[in-house]
Amino acid sequence: MPIYFNKTTKEFHLQSKGISYIFKVLENNQLGHLYYGSKISHRESFSHLFKLQQRAGLACVFEGDQKFSLENIKQEFPSYGTTDYREPAFHILQENGSRTTHFEYSSHAIYAGKPELKGLPATYVEQPEEATTLEISLYDQWLNAEIKLYYTIFEEMNVLARSAEYINHGTQKLQLNRALSASVDFPDANYEMLHLSGAWSRERHIKKRKLEPGIHSITSTRGTSSSQQNPFLALKRPDTTETQGEVYGFSLVYSGNFLAQVEVDHYDVSRISMGIHPFDFSWLLEPGESFQTPEVTFVYSNTGLNGMSQTFHQLYKKRLVKGEWRDKVRPVLINNWEATYFDFNEESILTIAKSAKELGVELFVLDDGWFGKRDDDTTSLGDWFVDKEKLPNGITGLANKITEMGLAFGLWFEPEMVSKISKLYEEHPDWIIHTVGRHQSHGRNQYVLDFSRAEVVDYIFESMSAVLREAPISYVKWDMNRYMTEIGSYTLPAERQSEVAHRYMLGVYDLYHRLTTAFPHVLFESCASGGCRFDPGMLHYAPQTWTSDDTDAIERLKIQYGTSVVYPLSSIGAHVSAVPNHQVRRTTSLDTRGNVAYFGVFGYELNVDEMTEEEKDTVKKQIAFYKDTRELILHGTFYRLRSPFDGDGNVTSWMVVSEDKTEALVGYYQVLARVNPGFRSLRLEGLNQECEYHIEGMEGTYYGDELMNVGLQLNNEFSGASPLFPEEQYGDFTSQIFKLNAVQR
Ligand code: DGJ
Repeated sequence: MPIYFNKTTKEFHLQSKGISYIFKVLENNQLGHLYYGSKISHRESFSHLFKLQQRAGLACVFEGDQKFSLENIKQEFPSYGTTDYREPAFHILQENGSRTTHFEYSSHAIYAGKPELKGLPATYVEQPEEATTLEISLYDQWLNAEIKLYYTIFEEMNVLARSAEYINHGTQKLQLNRALSASVDFPDANYEMLHLSGAWSRERHIKKRKLEPGIHSITSTRGTSSSQQNPFLALKRPDTTETQGEVYGFSLVYSGNFLAQVEVDHYDVSRISMGIHPFDFSWLLEPGESFQTPEVTFVYSNTGLNGMSQTFHQLYKKRLVKGEWRDKVRPVLINNWEATYFDFNEESILTIAKSAKELGVELFVLDDGWFGKRDDDTTSLGDWFVDKEKLPNGITGLANKITEMGLAFGLWFEPEMVSKISKLYEEHPDWIIHTVGRHQSHGRNQYVLDFSRAEVVDYIFESMSAVLREAPISYVKWDMNRYMTEIGSYTLPAERQSEVAHRYMLGVYDLYHRLTTAFPHVLFESCASGGCRFDPGMLHYAPQTWTSDDTDAIERLKIQYGTSVVYPLSSIGAHVSAVPNHQVRRTTSLDTRGNVAYFGVFGYELNVDEMTEEEKDTVKKQIAFYKDTRELILHGTFYRLRSPFDGDGNVTSWMVVSEDKTEALVGYYQVLARVNPGFRSLRLEGLNQECEYHIEGMEGTYYGDELMNVGLQLNNEFSGASPLFPEEQYGDFTSQIFKLNAVQR
């Protein structure tokens, strides 16, 4: 029984194979939090965990009582306006100007399975017995309004998913000024907050900070989840490492403006709050209307950060990504962006495709520049009609020729955007996100279409569908290249203008839903100037994401390492590109570029036709190797071994182990060469202790326990004594791949 309710004490105990989450109905009928962490035995009452203390200066709820103060109590879904001064989960403006509410426990239901979140991406179950849901109804009598709290516990996976729904049953209009998805109070503050932070082309670097009294928050108010901060945070104990110790992860399944925050109070209680950012947000609830928040997934691990990441990977791979590509290995692709940019025609594309096919590539992706009159980034977004000057036979003609070669064909769109130089803008200048009468800022010469309007979404759906229906297209790269400014909509009434950013997201999700439903065989890859919208919301519809516009192998070490904290390798688009690299002008070997890109959804982003025969030969081998290994890479268990964020960051290492532990692939990367260092070894993870492994290219066999405890003995580095040193071990930006196979005896 994964969810217990004790009628006498009014306590809820949500229990999975590895976690317990316990809370209760308080004396004032609000909810108080008791425990979240490693699984503990169920008992009749956990009331002893609830503590009150008379303290000087407390504001108290009940007359004659000096102890019952919400300031003193760990809460489950805190409200504003009573005896708690920390940040609440919600804030509701009423017609009389009041913001005070009193939502009391009124009822609950426990059932197998998990309800869908209307209009929003979310985790799901395939069989009802995979998860159990607790639905709690909180009711404010005076407002005649309800808050439903949803808690779904995935028993096997050790995941808790939470969301909230705000419902107006009354006759007055209510304005939600803050409507977060989840809140939880931890009893102490001895944690570091870990989050993923960055910028364009430097996405998701791991950042840690020690908690101190006050508020630590990460946010986006850019209209998308952003590359600046990812909608994720974790609380880890100071001594937690990749392989041991406690960590709590929180991931918001949403792609728009968000708030993820820890507030440490004066009693060392740490409050996590997560949801849509309340800044510049409000939502009008007319009588009879409801508002559904996005979902937050909670993951607890006492086996370090790798344990947390593995749970997120499992959950997101299996029960967040939707559609037929979820469980399939992904095709090795080649994308023409860095090969041609806007300068291509049918002939040059076919030349690249032909060479790529010969090397073993499976999918050709035609990137930006095929439509309207798009020879640079100043025009044509929104006009999804082929440019016949570049492609005289249309997309269909080109796609037919490419599929006849035996390659699948994929196409780039940027559905949410319009250029002012376009037919679409000429016809519908008010279809952009803007504030009427105000200056309109651009980003990359383009404007954001107002997806809060159904007719805009309908139009884009129709124009994209026309292309997808006509040509043999099996992959779509869905790009999004600017953040929002002057947020407003032409059609919404004044009182709903602060709803635009969220309504926009609902429009994006609607378009994704409609396209993935209408074209179920198409593989979608999401992209936003690379990884500026790499989040669980996008993953629900698009199983893979273009991780970063930075394709340099060394920059990618940090980007992919950080991304893997939450997101599975099957979602991490990783391509080999030309050198000197187009973003940082660094030159790395083809081997190192391949060795980094293997740990993700592998592809190429260069003109293979311009490569030397020797390079082509290497590419051929790389593709053959990836095809042989991709089942393991995409479906195996991933472990981070050495962090580029630790120490001088010179070494990065990671590995992936097959479910049955008979195969593993290890990547080891060194940024700068060191002269005459000590002997080095690398402790592996996740192997079968008793199993003997053979490592391709090495003599003999090694037991799993030796590789995990003593470590894999790495090659000596240059010491000056021997001039005959293997070439690949010299110099900067070197890497090694170790393929382990269990020996069958
Ligand atoms: C940004 C993407 O990240 C690139 O891969 C490429 O598709 C360009 N946009 C095209 O404009």
